[in-house]
Amino acid sequence: MRISIFGIGYVGAVSSACLASLGHEVMGVDVSADKVAMLNRGQSPIVEDDIDGLIADAVRDGKLSATSDVAAAIAWSDMSFISVGTPSAADGSVSMVAVDAVVAAIGRAIAGKAGTHTVVMRSTVPPGTAEDRVIPVLEQASGRKLGDRLHYYSNPEFLREGSSVRDFHAPPFTLIGAADGDDAAVMRELYAPVAGEFQLTSYKVAESVKYLSNVYHAVKLAFANEAGAVLAAHGVDARAAFSLFCEDRVLNISPAYLRPGFAFGGSCLPKDTRSFLALADAGGVAPILLRQLLPANQSVVDRSFDAIVRHCPDRKLALFGLAFKSGTDDLRESPFVTLAERFLGKGYDLCIFDRSVQIARLTGSNRAFIEREIPHLERLMVASPAEALAGRKLAVIGHVAPADRPALIAALDGHVLFDLAGIAELRNIPGTIYVGLCW
Ligand SMILES: NC(=O)c1ccc[n+]([C@@H]2O[C@H](COP(=O)([O-])OP(=O)(O)OC[C@H]3O[C@@H](n4cnc5c(N)ncnc54)[C@H](O)[C@@H]3O)[C@@H](O)[C@H]2O)c1
Repeated sequence: MRISIFGIGYVGAVSSACLASLGHEVMGVDVSADKVAMLNRGQSPIVEDDIDGLIADAVRDGKLSATSDVAAAIAWSDMSFISVGTPSAADGSVSMVAVDAVVAAIGRAIAGKAGTHTVVMRSTVPPGTAEDRVIPVLEQASGRKLGDRLHYYSNPEFLREGSSVRDFHAPPFTLIGAADGDDAAVMRELYAPVAGEFQLTSYKVAESVKYLSNVYHAVKLAFANEAGAVLAAHGVDARAAFSLFCEDRVLNISPAYLRPGFAFGGSCLPKDTRSFLALADAGGVAPILLRQLLPANQSVVDRSFDAIVRHCPDRKLALFGLAFKSGTDDLRESPFVTLAERFLGKGYDLCIFDRSVQIARLTGSNRAFIEREIPHLERLMVASPAEALAGRKLAVIGHVAPADRPALIAALDGHVLFDLAGIAELRNIPGTIYVGLCW
């Protein structure tokens, strides 16, 4: 395949060298005359492990060259990668100046060629860029419609400087965002020699995953540094503690807790976060990130409350779930208790169904807590989903045990379902309106 690569900085230089090493013919395109000249001399425009030899070999073998002539590069190639910079603008938003310029130039050049052209976005761009920004400009400038000799894919780059050549060949996965119904055959073929799963998704999800990844890496680093400093202040070998922490692949280094949804609570997370903050204070460490955890969690309750209110004009609702999670009667620091109290305080007509709490009431196992802490909520509890839904149009799903879902679904009759839990089987129930929190 003939591939033109726009922007031969860190990402573009590595992609150029590695794609040439896979046997493709590659032409780098850059506004920097110095980088173009260096590449044409067989020199790498960046300092990076393993890249010098790859570039020298590819240029010597006639597999790699560079230019600043956009039209010539587009006419010559079948596919263009965009890997220009997307730095921060003064206000912190991403600057799309280079992306916009290169997309418009590529679009105009495509108008002047007959064959099919594929454009691939490697730069890190915000979700919505493909549909709202790039494709309209490409279509307008090229005079083509997407699918008509014009293809566009989002293909975020996951390489790390310092090991980027190795990362190119062994990425966590190959991520492609494509238009609906496009199976991205050309991208599958291109990446066939590269290790890792081929993941095909929508443009927006592909664009988001790159941001999620980098922000999460920042959270991990800030957490490790801050929590490590707290431990060190108390004489703990923080590296040893983190090393064992990472051995837990079930809850710590795993997908656990990484599903967007409602707030956390229960008898451990809030309490132990507070204890750790107290340890930080005692050790003289200012825990800037950790200090935000409980307020951030509270803001989930606030955001949910505001969203539910907008769907509840008659101020009557049924809340499913009161314990802090499904399958337990533990009400300590439950965010659903907070939510219920918020509605009660605002004078809403509320009833609550939670099978585990109901059993606890009947068997007396958690009665002391219930009578002491939430007698005002206990009075609102009902024994079945049908009872909860009768006379109410809005059902707020905090959690509902799988065993109770058939009864819930059977009792739905024109209800609005406000789902805080993201339960797949509650979507698309005929005659109901489904509102998710963030899915
Ligand atoms: N550096 C990394 O490790 C890394 C990793 C993954 C993703 N990314 C993303 O990849 C993108 C590129 O990052 P980078 O570090 O390679 O940037 P970079 O600044 O090193 O390179 C960008 C190149 O684009 C060129 N350029 C600017 N405008 C151009 C135009 N109109 N036409 C042609 N070339 C033009 C610049 O001259 C420069 O050589 C960014 O969106 C970045 O966030 C970077």
